[in-house]
Amino acid sequence: MTQAHAEGAPGAHSGLSAAARGWLFFRRWLANPLEMGSIVPSSPVLGRKIAEVVRAGPPGPILELGAGTGAITRALLDGGISPWRLTVIEIVPEMAEVLSRSFPGVTVICGDAWNLSDILDPALHGTIGSVVCGIPLVLLPREKQASLIEAIETVAPGQGFLHYTYCITSPLPIRVHGLQGRRVAWTPLNIPPASVWHYRRAGA
Ligand SMILES: C[S@@+](CC[C@H](N)C(=O)[O-])C[C@H]1O[C@@H](n2cnc3c(N)ncnc32)[C@H](O)[C@@H]1O
Repeated sequence: MTQAHAEGAPGAHSGLSAAARGWLFFRRWLANPLEMGSIVPSSPVLGRKIAEVVRAGPPGPILELGAGTGAITRALLDGGISPWRLTVIEIVPEMAEVLSRSFPGVTVICGDAWNLSDILDPALHGTIGSVVCGIPLVLLPREKQASLIEAIETVAPGQGFLHYTYCITSPLPIRVHGLQGRRVAWTPLNIPPASVWHYRRAGA
């Protein structure tokens, strides 16, 4: 696990061009389609919808899991969220490097989201307002889904998490995992069209 906390002017978004980000994304999809879950980064429209939901949510630090080349990170920042609130986690070192270069002020952690409790700054545990998960969960075994849900609950108790997906119905089996889930946004303007779900522990 490596961590970078880039300092600089908020909203600078320097780094790779959109074409280079698209190419990196596609190359990673070729290398590991299940881990990437998509051949192209999320669209700006999907990013804006997620940013709206996050902005309307609780204050406090924001955790993004599976940040890729930063499509959602960028939308959160463009939506007015301060980079200092954002910690993003990405397992592919080349992508984490791009994120660090692109988003001054954002804390970028290169690591496995399933190890959240270990890789996240302990000072953030229990303080997180929103979690946005872009890691494709639908095709994972239920035990693996459950362990990520547990990892999120451990660092952000009671907050639940947002998850964007290309599924028409819930990508997570809600009852199996003891969750409450509802679709909070949808857009056809993404490849493919995407929904945003919010999940939280039932009764939380
Ligand atoms: C569907 S892509 C989303 C990328 C970006 N957020 C976007 O919307 O364009 C999923 C991302 O999750 C990352 N990922 C997959 N498994 C991961 C894990 N265990 N820990 C952290 N990131 C992971 C992939 O490398 C990929 O960048």
